[in-house]
Amino acid sequence: MTWPQTQQELQMRVPQLHQHECHLWHISLCTPDMAHSLPTECLSDEEKTRAAKFLRPEARQQFVMTRHALRSLLGAYLNTTPEKIPLQANQFGKPSLPVSFASLYFNVTHSGQRGLIAITRQGEVGVDIEQQRKMKDLLGMASMIFCPEDLRVWQELPVAEQMPAFYRAWTGKEAMAKALGCGLTIDLKGLRVDFTHEAQTQFLEMDFPPGTIHHWHLAQRNVVPGYCAALAIRGSPLETIDLAFDTQPVRTPGNAA
Ligand SMILES: CC(C)(COP(=O)(O)OP(=O)(O)OC[C@H]1O[C@@H](n2cnc3c(N)ncnc32)[C@H](O)[C@@H]1OP(=O)(O)O)[C@@H](O)C(=O)NCCC(=O)NCCS
Repeated sequence: MTWPQTQQELQMRVPQLHQHECHLWHISLCTPDMAHSLPTECLSDEEKTRAAKFLRPEARQQFVMTRHALRSLLGAYLNTTPEKIPLQANQFGKPSLPVSFASLYFNVTHSGQRGLIAITRQGEVGVDIEQQRKMKDLLGMASMIFCPEDLRVWQELPVAEQMPAFYRAWTGKEAMAKALGCGLTIDLKGLRVDFTHEAQTQFLEMDFPPGTIHHWHLAQRNVVPGYCAALAIRGSPLETIDLAFDTQPVRTPGNAA
């Protein structure tokens, strides 16, 4: 099967979404042969204009392919054509559906050659994926996201553990910030997550906006080696089901399959 598959093919592969579930769709964005024929037909005029403004072809490809996947998936869940999905955005840019159209929550993330789309009926959701890269100033980056107490815990980790722990913290915090809808306008130091253990699930109680206690379910997700991802959902714990948007093997240099 090629990428993108037809809407009809996708429709047949979308399972029923139960109230206690979150569907996490995995998308491979590494299809160099598509760079000149990106699937823009279901994008709105505004999205096409945005796509045309990207200076880096890779960034344009990431945006177009995940937006195409998002519209196709929402179309399949809601049994409508992808171009008719009325996407709106809050003041910080978080896309959503008008409540009058459907009570379906979703969030999108992309990094390097991977994209993720989380879809649930339960409540606000945020997802983040990061390709792990060695950083020149890891301590400087850590100082930007950790409060003093967490920074001390992080610095006491064995050196080899520090980079994966940093990415666990970063994706967990960013997934929370994206679920809240404010993105990086919020001080990440105030969003405290446990980053010391691999692939774990946490239940957080958060006073945000101040005076409103909400319960959150935060889970680290193993995606593919070299990437770190996290998913945050408002409400009680629910089952996350991993699904492949594309059925082609990932094509990277040295893996020509
Ligand atoms: C949201 C944000 C954290 C994304 O960071 P990132 O690591 O570069 O990107 P990710 O791949 O994880 O996520 C990008 C996707 O998140 C979604 N998104 C955008 N803004 C969002 C927000 N405020 N909250 C949740 N999700 C958001 C979009 O679907 C976006 O995908 P798209 O660009 O293909 O449409 C960052 O852009 C941010 O902090 N934005 C808010 C800051 C702001 O006010 N910007 C003004 C623009 S209106």
